[in-house]
Amino acid sequence: MTELLSIILAAGEGTRMRSSTPKVLHPVGGLPIIGHVTRAARDAGSSRIALVTGPRHAAIRQAVTAMQPDVVHFEQAEAKGTGHAAAMARELFTDAEGYIAVVYGDHPRLRGENFRVVLDRLDAGLDVAILGFEPKDPTGYGRFITDGETLLAIREHKDASEEERRIRLCNACILAFRAEVFRDLIDRIENDNVQSEYYITDLVGLANKAGKKVGFGIAPEDDVMGVNDRSQLARAEGLFQDVRREDFMKAGVTLKDPKSVWFSYDTEIAQDVTIEPNVVFGPGVKIESGAVIHAFSHIEGAHVGSNASVGPFARLRPGANLGADVKVGNFVEIKQAEIGAGAKISHLSYIGDASIGAEVNIGAGVITVNYDGYNKQRTIVGDNAFIGSNSALVAPVTVGEGALVGSGSVITEDVEADALALGRGRQINKPGRAKAIFAEAQAKKLSKKGL
Ligand code: UD1
Ligand code: CA
Repeated sequence: MTELLSIILAAGEGTRMRSSTPKVLHPVGGLPIIGHVTRAARDAGSSRIALVTGPRHAAIRQAVTAMQPDVVHFEQAEAKGTGHAAAMARELFTDAEGYIAVVYGDHPRLRGENFRVVLDRLDAGLDVAILGFEPKDPTGYGRFITDGETLLAIREHKDASEEERRIRLCNACILAFRAEVFRDLIDRIENDNVQSEYYITDLVGLANKAGKKVGFGIAPEDDVMGVNDRSQLARAEGLFQDVRREDFMKAGVTLKDPKSVWFSYDTEIAQDVTIEPNVVFGPGVKIESGAVIHAFSHIEGAHVGSNASVGPFARLRPGANLGADVKVGNFVEIKQAEIGAGAKISHLSYIGDASIGAEVNIGAGVITVNYDGYNKQRTIVGDNAFIGSNSALVAPVTVGEGALVGSGSVITEDVEADALALGRGRQINKPGRAKAIFAEAQAKKLSKKGL
């Protein structure tokens, strides 16, 4: 395969987004837009990836380095246009061989295979190949001025005449060049247009003038839609979710109401899992086969073992690791905790920073008191222990295997295996005392009314 350098552009101001967060850090399917684009560039077989960002974009550089440490960063000090931005990666393209692809960083549905369409055209002998598409609404996109198979120029929406604006075929997001052609032309771009910007799209006209062969490929709109504002962001999210839902159903996952289940880019769900309506998966979730996720549950950074049952109304937070056959019921929150096989936490509990053994029964309203305002402490409960309802396990604390904690206990000391622990006031019954109290209260009320 021919060597490929991808230059991803993300230095724009993103003004149409109206956000203090850089546009390409807004997530789609739980992954920043730029993460989708760098992944696509990687999947396309790029041997090197350059990313161009602006001076206030340290957060983008950080996020990308965390995902793909070998991406090379360049700064565009001032957003003077996409052509100016691509030129910032000079250090990488001066000695590039093979192909150079300039890719816009704001296309979250882009996949590796979309590169193939234009790279194949270069393989077939073209000098420049641009990815195009036919959006339902072409407003804002650059229009392709063609003559048969030849792409003569790209006219930006703002610079286009009424007639040119009627053209449906538009510039998508990948502009591919033979490296030497790109190098020869990149410094010839001028800024004589409505926005006084240096457009990368001008390379098309320049290449034609230089006698180069310029053509295009076509991608489906859903793959190459750009995100400039919040409604396009919502549309990208919708497209992402629809694809994930279909993929999971094809893989043997039951979604009772697909539209109401939301996945992340990395959600892993095994065959024969059932997911009820209104379930949200944040990043980092793996669900094993046979598990049932009941309605209105929110799950992120968690692992759910086979045949486990979660919810309705359960919240699994990062580090929740449920073994096989575990039952987590309604209004239960679990964070940084191992839950052993067959354990039951059925109602109204908070279990955090804990290790709960196999077959343990956690009663209604039990909480682990894991935080003293400064530090987190761990709670350990051994296999087969039984924690009575409405108990507080004040960490650090250990309840041994097979131990029984009486309901309503506040457990501050370790409990040895098979022991009964009672950490509550002893009950006192006073015969007739209730009746006397009520009589006193009634008399007081009547005297207030003057009766
Ligand atoms: C651009 C294209 C247009 C295409 C459309 C597809 C140009 C001139 N226009 O328009 O033909 O139909 O994308 O979505 O190329 N950027 C920089 N530095 C800059 C300006 C932009 O790095 O100085 C980056 C942005 O961060 C963004 C990408 O380049 O990721 C595209 O810029 P944007 O302003 O969104 O261009 P569009 O108007 O969408
Ligand atoms: Ca854009």
